[in-house]
Amino acid sequence: MAVAKPADILSALGAVEDPELGSDLVALGYVQDVASKAGSVGLTLHLAMPEGAARAALVEAARAAVAGLPGVDSVDIQVLADPGERPAVDEGVLSGVRNVVAVASGKGGVGKSTVAANLALALKQTGAAVGLLDADMYGPSVPTMFRVSEPLRVADDNKILPVEALGIPLMSIGFMAGQGLPVIWRGPMVSNMLQQLLQQVAWPPLDYLVVDLPPGTGDTQLTLCQMAPVNGAVIVTTPQELSLIDAHRGLEMFRKLNVPVLGLVENMSGFTCGHCGKVTDIFRRGGGKRIATQLGVPWLGSVPLDPAVVVAGDEGEPIVVRDPASSGARAFLAVARTVAARLHEHNRRQADAPEGELKLNW
Ligand SMILES: Nc1ncnc2c1ncn2[C@@H]1O[C@H](COP(=O)(O)OP(=O)(O)OP(=O)(O)O)[C@@H](O)[C@H]1O
Ligand SMILES: [Mg+2]
Repeated sequence: MAVAKPADILSALGAVEDPELGSDLVALGYVQDVASKAGSVGLTLHLAMPEGAARAALVEAARAAVAGLPGVDSVDIQVLADPGERPAVDEGVLSGVRNVVAVASGKGGVGKSTVAANLALALKQTGAAVGLLDADMYGPSVPTMFRVSEPLRVADDNKILPVEALGIPLMSIGFMAGQGLPVIWRGPMVSNMLQQLLQQVAWPPLDYLVVDLPPGTGDTQLTLCQMAPVNGAVIVTTPQELSLIDAHRGLEMFRKLNVPVLGLVENMSGFTCGHCGKVTDIFRRGGGKRIATQLGVPWLGSVPLDPAVVVAGDEGEPIVVRDPASSGARAFLAVARTVAARLHEHNRRQADAPEGELKLNW
């Protein structure tokens, strides 16, 4: 009986696209442990996310593609779904967290906090365990975006307990408001406070910790990247030139700090009139994609300018939870899936790299 060649199996699977990510199973690094013997093929599909609307269809498409090869009567597919994790680090900071994702921008007000909150909640919807750390000492947003006002609790071992809202654990300096916080922060104070948050918060085991950064390239960014095992940065920009220049600065900072940039999100990209359906590009459009191409950084997608996003954030229930079917929520979900897939790919490449050869994949 004929035995299918591994190259033919990979080529068949390379023609199967994950519709949610717009890339094929081989390119996504999902195919592992291909074993072929007379009449049968076994393989593992290691997906990035535990859940996904297209998951069952994807596995069936893979099975059909391999079953269509000459000489293959049976196909045995093991499905693993797991975001993977960064290579082990020694410091012990955030040791129960498998992936730390920083959300950053060079410029203020472009929607980092909105992206961070919705990204965390959307990752949660993929079936992962997710936490959100608000590292903006100057203007914490998480208390408002998750409508949290309860005071912080400290465990017997002096660890700070995260606050849970909308199903995810949260930590924000804003939870300490009214507990003697300074109005003006000097650089070293910011670093000290962030260090404490990184060392003393008792996070449950997490697949992802999303970190909402303040704007710019200052002490918070430095402290976070030096102290914590950040294994991916998401840069947020609005489409106009000024914001893109700042996004570029943010990119350069992460490059210098050896933190892989997972990609660029263009936020507030195009407003669809609720009355006539016409799209107006208030902050122009497409600049994020252009700069991503120019800089050789992956493109993670665009999120429309949508008044419902503002209302949802202001009322303590970000749009992916409040109205998952809305265009804004769908855009955030698509970004989250791409972020999960990129991290999965980075983690796999790093795990595969010979020792001493790990390093940046842009
Ligand atoms: N896609 C969007 N559509 C409409 N409004 C948005 C969108 N994204 C963010 N906003 C709104 O823009 C304002 C600024 O957003 P956000 O606070 O998330 O920005 P930021 O980059 O975190 O700001 P800062 O630099 O001050 O931390 C908020 O009122 C938010 O609701
Ligand atoms: Mg913010």
